[in-house]
Amino acid sequence: MTIYKFPDNFKWGSATSAHQIEGDNNNDWSEWESKNANLKAQKAKEKKWPDHILSNYPNPLQEENYISGKACDSYNRYEEDFDIAEKLNQNIHRFSIEWSRIEPEEGRFNEKEMQHYINVVKALKNRGIEPMITLWHFTNPVWFAQKGGFLNIDSPKYFTRYVKFVVKNLKDQVGLWITFNEATTVYSGHSYLKGLWPPQHTNILEWRRVNKNIVRAHIQTYKAIKEIYNHSPANLESFEVEPQRFLEVQPRDRATSHNVEVGIAESNSFNPSGNSFYERIIGRVYNYYRNLFFLSAAFPYYDFIGLNYYNLDRKVPGSYKSVPKQDWYMEDMGWEIYPKGIWHVLGQLKKFKKPIYITENGTADSKDLVREQYIKEHLKWVWRAIQDGVEVQGYLYWSLLDNFEWAYGFIPRFGLVEVDFKIFERRIRPSALEYARICKENTLQI
Ligand code: FCB
Repeated sequence: MTIYKFPDNFKWGSATSAHQIEGDNNNDWSEWESKNANLKAQKAKEKKWPDHILSNYPNPLQEENYISGKACDSYNRYEEDFDIAEKLNQNIHRFSIEWSRIEPEEGRFNEKEMQHYINVVKALKNRGIEPMITLWHFTNPVWFAQKGGFLNIDSPKYFTRYVKFVVKNLKDQVGLWITFNEATTVYSGHSYLKGLWPPQHTNILEWRRVNKNIVRAHIQTYKAIKEIYNHSPANLESFEVEPQRFLEVQPRDRATSHNVEVGIAESNSFNPSGNSFYERIIGRVYNYYRNLFFLSAAFPYYDFIGLNYYNLDRKVPGSYKSVPKQDWYMEDMGWEIYPKGIWHVLGQLKKFKKPIYITENGTADSKDLVREQYIKEHLKWVWRAIQDGVEVQGYLYWSLLDNFEWAYGFIPRFGLVEVDFKIFERRIRPSALEYARICKENTLQI
């Protein structure tokens, strides 16, 4: 048995997002879900599903599967969820605020919904759990989507106005903010290039425009948040704000901040390439757009990096020559699992010279057969990266609960905690108890 001790003050927790757990949201996703659910359920009939998936509620052949609906009903049950997180020895929790609740109509801010999130934060703090808040996790208010969402040149202005309202209300309680979740590594591609998510466009120029506007929105909100906390962003003013298109950025000192840190969460995959000149060039360009674009373009306007790591990506030619096919596969998502990849990706992020939180890492495993091993294998490589000088400050498993997994609906079950979507009962899975032991001891033993 080997013992891997994590640094003192390392944070342990889990993550969720508003639309995936709250229930009863009214945004561009909920609209899209109700329009598409029937078609999706029909299409699902063409596929052969394993029995354990068909016996779940909802199952892929039912329309309900593709409608977030009540989700986990966490809007009403968050105290129960946080009791579980506390019991599992977690001391940090990442969740998101739903913009469409806070600003349901353009310029009309809902104080009651704001109070709800203030209560959520209090509930975490009462349990000794530090809140890490994501301000945007894939969903948009309907009015904003109707204006073109992040295609709109004024989108940074709308987004910053919402962020300012939220941050002013929570600044004394919260010190860790994430502006965008996977905005350029997942969202813009799925929604504007591949046509998979609302608004299902397939236009490379739009994809570029959305990326650019999101970078602008991030930088504006970064500065606005700093100002609210009375931090002068003056020490950063001299840097270029336009997106940089360089493959390399010059690492600079991180922004000084005493009680607030503002970061970006991006999904970075490990993208091995072959060794020929041509394969390496493609690999470098792909890796830049897949993993590094936002972090390079927004540099140095973030205090930490949130890394969401899940899988190996085979899009670069020659990848099998450097990393053979893995036996470990996450069936529900079609992802090839490669724990060492987290070490490669962390190493790649080192050049930005910012602290890193693992803001998501997890597996869909409804029978809980491999989750414990998944967590341990990844943590082993996180530990290795720390020994190699990468400043990793915490690990947040995705997700605390089974939840609404976007276009897949309720099929993939990522939770440390199983949710019965008929009666909303929560059941802690055995792997969660193993993870709880690691959290408590700040040590991994395998
Ligand atoms: C990430 C998302 C998160 C969840 C996991 C499985 O890409 O940020 O909401 O869907 O994948």
